[in-house]
Amino acid sequence: MRGMPSVLQMRKNLVVPPSVAKVAGVRVRAFSGEVDIEPWLELRRRAFARARVGVREWTAEEFRQELSGRWWWSQQRLWFADSIDPARHSPLGAIACAQRGSAAEPGPPAVHWLMVDPAARRQGIGRLLLAVLERHCWELGLREVCLETHAEWRAAVALYRATGYEEVISAGDGSRF
Ligand SMILES: CC(C)(COP(=O)(O)OP(=O)(O)OC[C@H]1O[C@@H](n2cnc3c(N)ncnc32)[C@H](O)[C@@H]1OP(=O)(O)O)[C@@H](O)C(=O)NCCC(=O)NCCS
Repeated sequence: MRGMPSVLQMRKNLVVPPSVAKVAGVRVRAFSGEVDIEPWLELRRRAFARARVGVREWTAEEFRQELSGRWWWSQQRLWFADSIDPARHSPLGAIACAQRGSAAEPGPPAVHWLMVDPAARRQGIGRLLLAVLERHCWELGLREVCLETHAEWRAAVALYRATGYEEVISAGDGSRF
């Protein structure tokens, strides 16, 4: 991270089963294995290229360290939004559902690396991916979703507020995903 980012912690209670509204021309699918690592890294590069708080590029090894090597990982917990147009190969968006705590003491699920291609924004894809994650949590009986973002990531903060996430005032327990 560059500069002095201000981290925001947000949370939402799920009180009704989340509904997933379709977005025309977009389908959501789960991560399908090693072949999806590079497209995910490439999407991350594009999505954060102009962010006020930049993110350092990751290697495939870092993907494994931060996502697929984690205790909470399952291929069913990372989703891509793809175009239904077969000519469009690169993903339009992605989201992962991490989990705080440890396998022995699991904490609440967390939104992890939500990102949408700059050319596909404001079409409802971010909202769609969040809804997919929330429905997954609901189906597992989990009723609280948390996340960490930066105040500088204005679009993300606006999206989270618009979808019912509220800022957590206390510093939280600091536990890692
Ligand atoms: C944040 C991000 C995922 C939003 O994706 P998106 O597909 O454009 O979001 P949606 O179209 O679903 O937006 C849903 C709502 O969120 C809010 N919103 C999204 N982007 C916004 C923006 N730039 N300004 C103001 N509000 C915004 C609006 O309320 C919007 O509804 P509306 O379009 O009907 O007004 C995308 O901007 C992105 O990838 N940003 C860079 C990566 C990032 O910051 N990720 C978050 C990490 S925590």
